[in-house]
Order: sequence, then structure tokens, then C-alpha cells
Amino acid sequence: MDMRKISFSPPDISELEIAEVVETLKSGWITTGPRTKLLERRLAAYIETGRNDFDTERETERWSNRAVCLNSATAAEELCLHLLGVKEGDEVLVPAYTYTASASAAVHCGAKVRFVDIRKDGDPDTHMPEMDYDMLEDAITEKTKAVVTVDLGGIVCDYDRIFEIVERKKHLFTPVGSDGTPLGDLGSRIQRSLGRVAVLADCAHSLGSSRVVEHVGGKPVEKGRRFCGAIADFSSFSFHAVKNFTTAEGGAATWLPMDRVDDAEIYKMFQLLSLHGQNKDALAKTKLGSWEYDIVGPWYKCNMTDIMAALGLRQLDRYPGLLARRAEIAARYDAVCDELGVGHLVHQADGMTSNRHLYLIRIPGFGEEERNRLIERMAEMGVATNVHYKPLPMMTAYGADCTGFPNAYDYYHNLVSLPIHTLLSDEDVDYVCAALRKALKG
Ligand SMILES: Cc1ncc(COP(=O)(O)O)c(C=O)c1O
Repeated sequence: MDMRKISFSPPDISELEIAEVVETLKSGWITTGPRTKLLERRLAAYIETGRNDFDTERETERWSNRAVCLNSATAAEELCLHLLGVKEGDEVLVPAYTYTASASAAVHCGAKVRFVDIRKDGDPDTHMPEMDYDMLEDAITEKTKAVVTVDLGGIVCDYDRIFEIVERKKHLFTPVGSDGTPLGDLGSRIQRSLGRVAVLADCAHSLGSSRVVEHVGGKPVEKGRRFCGAIADFSSFSFHAVKNFTTAEGGAATWLPMDRVDDAEIYKMFQLLSLHGQNKDALAKTKLGSWEYDIVGPWYKCNMTDIMAALGLRQLDRYPGLLARRAEIAARYDAVCDELGVGHLVHQADGMTSNRHLYLIRIPGFGEEERNRLIERMAEMGVATNVHYKPLPMMTAYGADCTGFPNAYDYYHNLVSLPIHTLLSDEDVDYVCAALRKALKG
């Protein structure tokens, strides 16, 4: 077997993205501007329909403005929590098995994070390490304001079940009162509209994933396929360099229509929160005689630039093709894992179609040491692998103690993430499979 060098998750950037970035650089407008606004509309249309081929440039009014582009998923989640009025004294429930951003955004808002263990070995059909839903129900108290659900690896959580739980526990929920400020008043109206714990989907991995559901934002709908970003109350996406869809850094927040709040008001608050609380963005200030602005809150700086949006626009054109190629690679891995008796995520299950963001495998009978040796052996053969994730309670920042989360620890201890990305040729995929076979035999 001739040695190959297999990276874990390099960005797939074509001449199309390069040309669009060059055009943006030459256009005279490189920060938040027309390309960011167009990407927001196109993402909203994609999330609402699963299609990327609408002429959203000419038909802007046809598509909702319920998508806002930002500089990361972390910023998106944090701003969603601020909009919801989450603050000190509140609790946010987060799975123990995820990346730090799912939890740190709530910490930044002053809330207390309470981790929920995963179901043993994850979901029975997909093996995705999502929260144990019975434990989630028990963890909801009078202080709980939000639950962060993580569509890990692109696999969509069971939102019908999650909404059933937060509905059942709505008697414990008291919406925050308005403090008289525009942000505090909005948070209060959003909490009153929901009347229950909010469901914030961490869709950092799951752009383009979908699931057949009977509830959207907790309201019954005709049973049908919905795409991530249009199922939970709020959703946050990551366009970081290692993601399926990238703008180098970047992310987006989406939300669902609410009874007492206008979409335009939510959109405007995202703009303010992400741009210093300044009531005119750079583009609006360029209009003749339009220099003056107010600062309505001492807020954040996490807007998307048009250079990033240029990458996103062309990535979105290519996205269905990229997802189709990921599905082919995952199918080849499925066959080899099944042959070797290695557990793996199931990316296509009854009613659920994942975007195949991560390919997690679990080796029966392995302990942490054997798992780490396998990773080294794969590296010696030129194959970069990874571990998604070391459970958060094991991390220093969250107390370095996993004893209360045995299922999360158990899931992690024999787990390896195989490289899955669209720069892999069929020969590369065969090479990864051969390296895995060899490493396991060794
Ligand atoms: C599950 C999850 N949530 C949130 C994030 C944060 O994404 P970003 O880097 O865009 O803030 C990541 C990043 O990898 C992630 O894996």
C-alpha cells in the first residue's frame, strides 16, 4: 500500500469561490454589505425549502428575513440567548457531549449551564450521542430558560420529543418581565410568546440536514420533512473552515415566526447586537449626509464581512453536490465498518437525512489507551483522525470531573472520527479503509 497523506477536514474551495472573493475585493465594498444580505436571503430560502436555486436576488420579498449572518456559530448562539433575555440567575441545559461553544455562549450571558448526560450508546437508530430525553425532562426547573440541542455530526435530534418535553414542563416556566429597555422588552415578549423553555438548536454541523417532524417551534404541523434551521425556536450554524459549508470563519442564526414579535424587529436587534449597538451600519452611513448615528446599547462586534459572504454564496451553489459526495463516502465507510464489526453513526435513518458532517466510529472492547494507539497507527500511515468529543465535564473550564456523566464518558472512551470531506478521491477513501483494517489488526 503506497503511503498517502489524508488530511482530516481541509476546506473545499473551487475557482468559483476564488473568483467571487476577487470580485468582492475589487468592488470597493468588503465589510458587511450586499453580498452578506444576499447570502442571508439565500440561506433563508435554502433552510425553508432545501433548494439552493431560487433567484433570491430579484425575489427578495418572497423569502423570509429570518436568517442573519454573523462571524461564528458561537456569536449566533450567544446573541440568540441575549435576544431571549437569558441572564444571571437563569439556567440553560446543554448535553454533556458537545463542543465548548454550545455551553460557553450561555456562560457569557451570565447563565448557569447544567449538563445533561447522553443516552447510553446514543440514539438506538443513529447512535448519535444526544441527551437522554428522560434526564432532560427531569433537569427542567423553574430556573430553566433554554435547552441547547446539538445536531452532532449532522444528525438531527428528535425535536418532536424535545418539544413534547418542554410543553409538558411549561407549568414551571415564568416569562421574564420587561425591564423597559428595547432588548429587555423584546426578550420578555419572546419568552411570553413561547410560554415555555426555549429550544435552541446548535446546528453548527447540520446545514442541509433534515428530519420528518410533526412539530415546528412546538406547534403541530402537517407531518413532513423540515430542514435544520426551521424546526427549533432558534438555530445557530457554523461556517468555520472545517465545516461542510465554509466562509473561513462565520455563522448564522435563524428563528421561527413568533406571536408577539415581528421578524423585522428580531432581525434589527441581531443587527444592533452584532454591530456595537450602532443604529446605522457602515453601508447606511455612506449615503450622502447620513453620517450621524446613535449607540443604543454597549453591545458586541460579530458581523459577517462581504468577503466571507462571497465564499458562502458560491459554496451554496455547490452545496447539494458537496452533500451528495459526502453521502457516497459515508456509504463506503458504512460497508467497511459493518464488515469489521465497528460501530458507526447512521446518517440515514427513518425520516432523518444527515449532511454527513462527521463520521464517528466506536471500537468494541477498546479502552482509551487502545483508542489512542489506533489514532497513532493511523497517523503513521498518513491518515489524520480526530476525537469528537472529549465530554465537556472532563474539561478544566467545566470542573474536570465526568463522574456524573457515565454515558458521555463511555461514548468517548473508544471513539475515533474518520476523515470525511469532499477532497477525498475514491482511492483516498479506500486507503483510509485499508489503514483502518490494518491498524485494527495490529
Ligand atoms: C457543536 C458545535 N457548536 C458550536 C461550534 C462553534 O462554531 P464556531 O467556531 O463557528 O463558533 C462548534 C465548532 O466547531 C461546534 O462543533
